[in-house]
Amino acid sequence: MKRTAIYAGSFDPLTNGHADLIHRSLGFVDRLVVGVLNNLAKQPLFTVEERQDLIRESITDPRVEVRMFRGLLVDVAREVGATLVIRGLRVVADFDYEMSMALMNRHLDAGLETVFMVPSLETTYISSSLVRQVAQFHGRIDGLVPPPVAAALMRKYPPRR
Ligand code: PNS
Repeated sequence: MKRTAIYAGSFDPLTNGHADLIHRSLGFVDRLVVGVLNNLAKQPLFTVEERQDLIRESITDPRVEVRMFRGLLVDVAREVGATLVIRGLRVVADFDYEMSMALMNRHLDAGLETVFMVPSLETTYISSSLVRQVAQFHGRIDGLVPPPVAAALMRKYPPRR
């Protein structure tokens, strides 16, 4: 039987840390669904369509599917047939939030297991929010995000002349 996992997040935008976890997950799943949260209460930098397109352009492995979701993660997991939720743990500060989320998801669906993954050391400090800040003020973003995302950030924040 095929093993499907879901890797959900805001991906505003996808970073090299996310890409690293996606590639690592493919080491033990047959199919990975990247679920992009469409949170109507938040004003993201990139629209949900842009975020999905950037992931598709950056990750071309045929085992990866990208889709948007609203509402509960457990519902989209059930819809796509995922039995695992992938989450990355970068630093100790991530732990409390991630633990509560994993336990809440277990409360909602006991059949769904959360797998915490350790990203590569080189990507540990990267987060979408820091990338947005750096890009906004024209700092160097090479090495932080895949090339299609870097190009999209340059379009959002054109270099000053
Ligand atoms: O990239 P993020 O913002 O850390 O991802 C958080 C995400 C999307 C995984 C989380 O907010 C989520 O699962 N949202 C869907 C709502 C939900 O299922 N909440 C109950 C479980 S805590």
